[in-house]
Amino acid sequence: MAVTAKLELDGQIVELPVVIGTEQEKGVDVTRLQAESGYITLDPGYANTGACKSAITYIDGDQGILRYRGYDIAELCEKSTFMEVSYLLIHGELPTAEEFTRFKDKILLHSLIHEDMKSFFTSYPGHAHPMAILSSMVCSLSVYHPELLKPNPTAKEASQTITRLLSKVRVLAAFAYKRSVGEAFAYTRPELDYVSNFLHMMFTTPMRDYVASETVRKALDVLFILHADHEQNCSTSTVRMVGSSKANLFASISAGVCALWGPLHGGANQSVIEMLEDIARDGCHYRKYIEKAKDRNDPFRLMGFGHRVYKSYDPRAAILKKYCDQILDQLGISDPIFDIAKGLEEAALTDPYFIERKLYPNVDFYSGVLYRAMGFPTNMFTVLFALGRLPGWIAHWKEMIEDPGTRIARPRQIYVGPSLRSYLPLGQRVRAEG
Ligand code: CMC
Repeated sequence: MAVTAKLELDGQIVELPVVIGTEQEKGVDVTRLQAESGYITLDPGYANTGACKSAITYIDGDQGILRYRGYDIAELCEKSTFMEVSYLLIHGELPTAEEFTRFKDKILLHSLIHEDMKSFFTSYPGHAHPMAILSSMVCSLSVYHPELLKPNPTAKEASQTITRLLSKVRVLAAFAYKRSVGEAFAYTRPELDYVSNFLHMMFTTPMRDYVASETVRKALDVLFILHADHEQNCSTSTVRMVGSSKANLFASISAGVCALWGPLHGGANQSVIEMLEDIARDGCHYRKYIEKAKDRNDPFRLMGFGHRVYKSYDPRAAILKKYCDQILDQLGISDPIFDIAKGLEEAALTDPYFIERKLYPNVDFYSGVLYRAMGFPTNMFTVLFALGRLPGWIAHWKEMIEDPGTRIARPRQIYVGPSLRSYLPLGQRVRAEG
């Protein structure tokens, strides 16, 4: 028998269906609430609101569980690759050998961007943030693919847009970096895999071929896997929201890049390293920063700490912390920033403020330490997050457009402004003092 919730409003009982997910997550379906009662639900920040049903990623924030299409994140990091995970997220299953070869070949084939686009990069000031360049360039790709902008793409057209984006966004990211350091652009090489190609485009110069060590290649692959999806986070919800108006995929992903940039979301990885550098400059007194974070009158927050969903250790941060130890050791790097991060974590995790609020390190707390060790400049960290998140954004967009039940995303509000009043001519308006 179908389970329902009963809500009493103005003496009338409204019966609402209860929805239960594969992992027994429970929700109350309020789709008919407004039509039947005149009431809406109010949930700023959507902390209690499910915007869709999704079969892509499962998170249990209390247990620290993260799974893509049913596969545990730790197992994927150990045994899979970012390319395989991208296929899994987008298509729902791990590829067969033949499917995987076809997928990788297509991605390799579409790595060139229109030569005219190179002039866009050089028009930006040298100090431009690469996230600004990336979001504009992703949207600009649409100009070169007018055939892929249809509001209702066929499966073939959607697939063509997806492969182009997966291939070209890493090129745009690397070119944005090359522009910022004033170096010549480097193109992809057919013999290199996705991640090695990205590293090559970033760090090869006309004077020196950069060949990534297996340590660095594997670490970046794992970072990308860890970032690849995280269900209905701010940027993914943005991609879905923009896409729900039937804007094309390039525009939707460009909006996702912008949403990711904020320091409360993907921009946190840059903010974490800047915070750790500040602490280092300040004599490594990290306890002072713990006190600042606890002070309600101080806007400072411990960056890389806390999460809307995780109320225990973020499984991604646990994997990255182990990786930091290994990679720094293998690369022979001793980074005082990593020691500060570990000290800060230890102090926070034993402090009642953080314990009571269940605030733990999140994925951004340790990712920057690794990016730094690989030679990425701080302002590229969020671009790396965007590259990792790209298959997740695409998977959600695809799931949304394939769902016949999708409607344009259009939240309601409770209006709290003035009631009807009359227009006063300019000369008659006076402002009360104070
Ligand atoms: N430092 C100090 N206090 C914090 C922090 C923090 N980093 N995060 C949360 N709190 C406190 C907050 O002040 C509030 O306290 P009180 O109940 O006394 O008012 C309580 O913990 C709950 O916080 P909230 O802001 O209501 O939680 P939220 O779910 O709205 O925000 C968050 C989640 C991630 C935006 C927030 O924890 C934060 O600002 N963290 C720092 C930025 C960061 O690391 N962001 C990356 C998130 S993970 C990667 C990603 O998904 O993008």
